[in-house]
Amino acid sequence: MVTPGTLLIASFNAGREFLRAPTEDYAQRGPAMPYVTPVLVPIRSIGPRHGERIARHLLALDENDRYLRFGYAANDEQIRRYVDGLNFERDEIFGIYNRKLELIAMAHLAFSTDPELKSCAEFGVSVLAKARGRGYGTRLYDRAVTHARNDGVDMMFIHALSENTAMLKIARKAGARIERDGSESEAYLKLPPADLDSRMTEMVEEQLAQTDYRLKVQAKKFWDFLTALQKARHGVRE
Ligand SMILES: CC(C)(COP(=O)(O)OP(=O)(O)OC[C@H]1O[C@@H](n2cnc3c(N)ncnc32)[C@H](O)[C@@H]1OP(=O)(O)O)[C@@H](O)C(=O)NCCC(=O)NCCS
Repeated sequence: MVTPGTLLIASFNAGREFLRAPTEDYAQRGPAMPYVTPVLVPIRSIGPRHGERIARHLLALDENDRYLRFGYAANDEQIRRYVDGLNFERDEIFGIYNRKLELIAMAHLAFSTDPELKSCAEFGVSVLAKARGRGYGTRLYDRAVTHARNDGVDMMFIHALSENTAMLKIARKAGARIERDGSESEAYLKLPPADLDSRMTEMVEEQLAQTDYRLKVQAKKFWDFLTALQKARHGVRE
């Protein structure tokens, strides 16, 4: 759970990461430079304008990941239909962007439409293969829990395949009850009601994530401009 102290440190550090050129890929760092997850990962709420990025993220998942994420190996057309059908008004979509503004991790918190199960929500998540094992899945889960609590949800639900060790580990660590039924498992997490802390945490986290995203947009424009300039210079020289 993010404490006010962590948020303060993160706000002082905001913008440091975006000043680096987007040339190195985290996946290429190797064991000599292991990835260290920062104290705060900017997770922002995503709107319908980002539909294409969501589609690109999901289409980048391989067949096995699609199977784990959707419960079946969704083909490209089924993924497009899923994205087109997203209800941004009712549900909440969260995302983590890298410096190239690529959506490297996303979560979908779907609120129940059944009037008798109004206080229930389902959580679904995916992290690009190159960004796994850095705690993003866990952070997205924590963020979804905070949002769900603040929205009056008292039961969060995950449908996962029993072989999905990483997902079930995330849910179990958060205190969810796991019920296994053969190859499929259901995880239920009972949520405490919202309080001042959960409301403040979500508000500050969202603000930091929006600021981080704006900085990344500016930085990307700047690096694109420099790249174009360099290309033009080479052209002149040749
Ligand atoms: C499930 C998924 C979201 C996890 O994302 P992630 O960012 O790698 O998760 P985290 O880094 O937060 O790791 C969570 C825990 O699982 C463990 N873990 C990660 N990958 C693992 C693997 N392949 N096998 C076993 N444990 C694994 C981590 O060590 C961590 O445990 P810890 O907290 O004790 O260290 C990601 O693997 C994914 O996108 N899978 C495909 C889609 C999917 O399965 N979605 C879930 C169903 S809705």
